Amino acid sequence: MARIKLHDKYFVTSIPNEEIERAICGVGRQISEDYRDKDCPVFLSVLNGSFMFTASLMKSIEIQAELSFIKLSSYDGTESTGCVRQLLGLNKNIKGRNVLIVEDIVDTGNTIVELVKLLQEAGAADIKVCTLLLKPDSYDKEIKIDYPAIKIPNDFIVGYGLDYDELGRQYKDIYVLDSNQD
Ligand code: IMP
Ligand code: MG
Repeated sequence: MARIKLHDKYFVTSIPNEEIERAICGVGRQISEDYRDKDCPVFLSVLNGSFMFTASLMKSIEIQAELSFIKLSSYDGTESTGCVRQLLGLNKNIKGRNVLIVEDIVDTGNTIVELVKLLQEAGAADIKVCTLLLKPDSYDKEIKIDYPAIKIPNDFIVGYGLDYDELGRQYKDIYVLDSNQD
């Protein structure tokens, strides 16, 4: 088991890359089937955390899809602040479009709630949610998470795009906070 140190904390391997890629292929296949006969969707990738997932998901789909990015932030260190800030706004006209949100992780769901509200106001015809990771024990919102690739317990994780105070995004595996911090 690999162990890494980011800032003041130690993390250990939790989900190997092969398992991540397999799960992404699974949702990619499902999305391809579901959108095959629909108007070309817009994949809306939520930066920064989703950059690696988005790249892999785009490679695994068998349909045409447009790609756009939005940047939101709700985390401070290892805790959700409950307040979602828009750091880079929606720069595409999504009126009447089928939008697929591409998230790295759905935790409390505050980000998804804000994002869905924003997309509804912008006139999206249909909004669906795809996420690499879902924490079902933390998520308590009404919005359906249509395509969760991997479900995980309520632990703080890093890697595959996810960070701890901006570090750890580059790892191809996912790491969890080590129970032993010595
Ligand atoms: P939510 O608004 O609580 O659902 O959190 C969503 C955002 O918080 C995600 O898109 C991540 O950027 C960040 N986040 C939530 N859980 C984790 C974690 O375990 N590690 C790193 N970032 C996380
Ligand atoms: Mg995110």
